[in-house]
Amino acid sequence: MHQVHQMDHPLITHKLTMLRDKNTSSKHFREIVRELSTLMAYEVTKNFPLKAVEIETPICKTTQRVLAEKDVVIVPILRAGLGMVEGFTHIIPNAKIGHIGLYRDPDTLEAVEYYKKLPSDISDREAIITDPMLATGVSAVHTIDILKRDGCKNIKLAVILAAPEGIAAVHEKHPDVPIYCACIDEGLNDHAYIVPGLGDAGDRLFGTK
Ligand code: URA
Repeated sequence: MHQVHQMDHPLITHKLTMLRDKNTSSKHFREIVRELSTLMAYEVTKNFPLKAVEIETPICKTTQRVLAEKDVVIVPILRAGLGMVEGFTHIIPNAKIGHIGLYRDPDTLEAVEYYKKLPSDISDREAIITDPMLATGVSAVHTIDILKRDGCKNIKLAVILAAPEGIAAVHEKHPDVPIYCACIDEGLNDHAYIVPGLGDAGDRLFGTK
């Protein structure tokens, strides 16, 4: 069940180009990440269930549909994933937010967890992991491992740019997890940066360089 949903729209392509441009300021970069995340939230929630309700318009009684209650948790991978949270909560305001902090051990190159705070009812929630960059896939795979260990059965991964290597890594370990992205780039360079990419998403979001 390998699923990659790539958003394809001229506005998204335009915003992505601004995001990639090294001359784009942190302020503008943050705004564009938030806008792209809002648009992505529509795509991610596309199959949310609806239920029938009776309402009355100024003209007549009618049966229409509203969202059936669906409990969601948004899980940003620290720190760049934080930049996508606001766009998602704008569309899913009742979502809870969990946090996962990982760093890469320089010797083993394995992801090491340094922070984890998830809602206690996470096993009953649909989880949406956010991280702007799916590069090697190490952090995404590790985060999905953690959520599944905590009983999460329904997980989606939302990224802005994806490298084919990262998509393959997630698909290999977690074929049940659909990936949502704005673009699939060419691949990774020797430093595991996405090419052409946009550089270090965390540094560009938070102005630390
Ligand atoms: N993380 C980033 O921030 N940028 C990349 O290109 C790859 C991983």
